[in-house]
Amino acid sequence: MDRIRLVGGHELNGEIPISGAKNAALPLMIASLLTQEPLVLVNVPRLADVKQLERILENHGVDIAVHGRRRGDADMGGQRITFTASDIVDTTAPYELVSTMRASFWVIGPLLAREGTARVSLPGGCAIGTRPVDFYLEGLRALGAEIDIDEGYVVARAPGGRLKGATVTFPKVSVGATHVVMMAATLAQGTTIIENAAREPEVGNLAECLVAMGAKISGIGTDRLVIEGVETLGGAIHEVLPDRIETGTYAFAAAMTGGDVLLRGARPELLQAALDVLARTGVEVRTETDGVRIVRNGSGIDPVDIETEPFPGFPTDLQAQFMALMARSTGVSSIRETIFENRFMHVAELARFGARISVDGQTARVTGVPELKGAQVMATDLRASVSLVIAGLAARGETVVNRIYHLDRGFERLEDKLSRCGAQIERIAG
Ligand code: UD1
Repeated sequence: MDRIRLVGGHELNGEIPISGAKNAALPLMIASLLTQEPLVLVNVPRLADVKQLERILENHGVDIAVHGRRRGDADMGGQRITFTASDIVDTTAPYELVSTMRASFWVIGPLLAREGTARVSLPGGCAIGTRPVDFYLEGLRALGAEIDIDEGYVVARAPGGRLKGATVTFPKVSVGATHVVMMAATLAQGTTIIENAAREPEVGNLAECLVAMGAKISGIGTDRLVIEGVETLGGAIHEVLPDRIETGTYAFAAAMTGGDVLLRGARPELLQAALDVLARTGVEVRTETDGVRIVRNGSGIDPVDIETEPFPGFPTDLQAQFMALMARSTGVSSIRETIFENRFMHVAELARFGARISVDGQTARVTGVPELKGAQVMATDLRASVSLVIAGLAARGETVVNRIYHLDRGFERLEDKLSRCGAQIERIAG
């Protein structure tokens, strides 16, 4: 299994190009199931999760054509990929394909809406909490679907072959459930209202793509989406927005090591809460025409308390990385996780660097230390893994991160992007 070896203590200086967002690319790819016509996505990141979803979509009959070049080429730009679901040849998403990535469960929405039936394995994904699918199922039931659980599969049917518009009120903000019910509602008969919809930018990105495909959606960007069902959707060309989690991750990395880094292509409004927190730690955060610049020269890192929240609050997907930064702060900070109940697995690994963190329920208390020391650590989930890289970048001596397949799921060319800015980081194969 590949590992990452890094030697800490080097400042980051230079430019890091921000890739297309994984969490936007995945639902956009799934939206291709809603139409017979080609959906062209631009700025698709080169990630293991994208490859895995390609396999799942191909199994349903989607023809996938990648334009331009694949991973390994000098080109840092995103991929342009055409997805054409002329015929859905299979409405089953099997366990072998779905179990490794939770987002693949989302195919249930379009399959049910277009074909009137779907059989999708219950999902897997990062072990950051129980992550049930009750909101999805209640939402689809509200649209008239009949749903059974059979041998680990969700079996859904739309009576008469078509879903019916309804009001769906989510008890808690869920990105995935909003994606699924919104996609399903585009082809339903009548109007659907989604109350307490997720406002994450990736939901807006998907909604805009659906509108380009002919869907009628209003309230985009708010917590109340109104979707008037149409008979069919058509093709479109749509761009994946820049990855706000990748942006925040490298912003925290630069804050951690010190230096001056331009995050090229980053859009600050997608992660304003996180950038505001970063500014409060004493780091200079500057919006420029072609991205966001992060500068820290010599000053200490002030402690800041945070609480994760749905958008526009501080994202849970940046919590682990921020904890790594706070491990080097000049005081005590408190980090409260409100979205997932088991998202502190990185605490034990950060402790290997000498970080001082105690956990009480959903709150971690981080006492900054003047120096972290390199260590052997284990990646536990996608975002936690990268927090270990951030810690290693600032730690004295050598760090080896094991089990990095998690990183490849969500961070494009991580070693490459960091080493171009002066980090001493390499992948060790095998
Ligand atoms: C998405 C993101 C993930 C991010 C998360 C929260 C993708 C591919 N993944 O995950 O990176 O961390 O949003 O911003 O976009 N819940 C239920 N029942 C449900 C659905 C959700 O109880 O049926 C709960 C979850 O357990 C969690 C909370 O709702 O506590 C939010 O989860 P949700 O927004 O659905 O996360 P994902 O869409 O899986």
